[in-house]
Amino acid sequence: MEQQQHPPRNLGLDLVRVTEAAALTAGRWIGRGQPEEADAAAAEAMLQALNTLDMQGRIVLGEESKLGRHSPLDSGRKVGTGYGPEMDVMVDPIDGTRLLMHGRSGVLAVAAVAPAGSMQRVAPAAYMEKIVVDREVGDKLVSETLDAPAAWTLALISRLKNKPIRDLIVFMLERDRHKHLVEEIRAAGARVWLRGDGDIAGGLLALQPDVGADVLMGVGGAAEGIMAACAARALGGAMLARLAPQSDHEREDVAAAGLDTTKIYTEHDLVASDDVFFVATGITNGPLLSGVSYFGDRAETYSIMLRGSTGTRRVIFAEHSIRRLFSGL
Ligand code: FBP
Repeated sequence: MEQQQHPPRNLGLDLVRVTEAAALTAGRWIGRGQPEEADAAAAEAMLQALNTLDMQGRIVLGEESKLGRHSPLDSGRKVGTGYGPEMDVMVDPIDGTRLLMHGRSGVLAVAAVAPAGSMQRVAPAAYMEKIVVDREVGDKLVSETLDAPAAWTLALISRLKNKPIRDLIVFMLERDRHKHLVEEIRAAGARVWLRGDGDIAGGLLALQPDVGADVLMGVGGAAEGIMAACAARALGGAMLARLAPQSDHEREDVAAAGLDTTKIYTEHDLVASDDVFFVATGITNGPLLSGVSYFGDRAETYSIMLRGSTGTRRVIFAEHSIRRLFSGL
């Protein structure tokens, strides 16, 4: 009998503890109307958990450009024990901080790692234009699609997914900048799923066949874009992206850094390795994952873990002892 080849150690299983720690901390801030305090607490919990992982990690792109404030997880921060492989790291302790402060659904804690040097360097960019699709569309998403009329893109997706355009759902962030695109999509006959925040969750919805969205379109965070690309690599989906500065200040910073705002990136450009791990834990209930629940001394979390090299997708339920592990919560 041929001997089965076992893939090496799964860093993603350790990484789940990182998003669980952020989610368990952030969950205490649901509906409390204090976004900055929630972000700071979840970032600190995430940093502490990251620093228990055997790796020489470095945050590739933090959210400091977009938020205009610093966190312990800014670009360039070293994370991990300092032993083990050199890794690029991307995190978002709360994707959907504004949703969280109002107690709304679909908020996630997210982290992704890949070998050092494999994630695209786009700091100090804060925003990116994106299209994300699942493996049924996959590499048929040619780079011209980013400049094509929405009706053309939807016709392509409709053909490849064997679904009429009126059955398609496009996930988008509800923003003034998307007004024209929303009109185009509606005129083409597709339906639009507008969400207040959270386009990593939107990317995950678009990347998995039959979980609610057929495609994500529009401009969102650049850091969120790199994390979505990690998920796209792991799930075999596809992504196109282009830097899309949203202010004169960002345009100047991006130009000063020598970044090209005309370049179209694929998921392979954004993350140049299959050896990627992506994890997300639900903070509030959402279409992908249930949120954190507390029961006195115990708490429960649901997470998803993706491994690029093997294509494994795990959904992980965990029960935590607050007294033994998270006494500060
Ligand atoms: P944070 O909660 O991490 O700040 O991000 C929420 C979010 O909706 C992201 O999912 C998205 O990529 C980005 O903000 C869009 O930025 P903006 O709200 O400035 O349009």
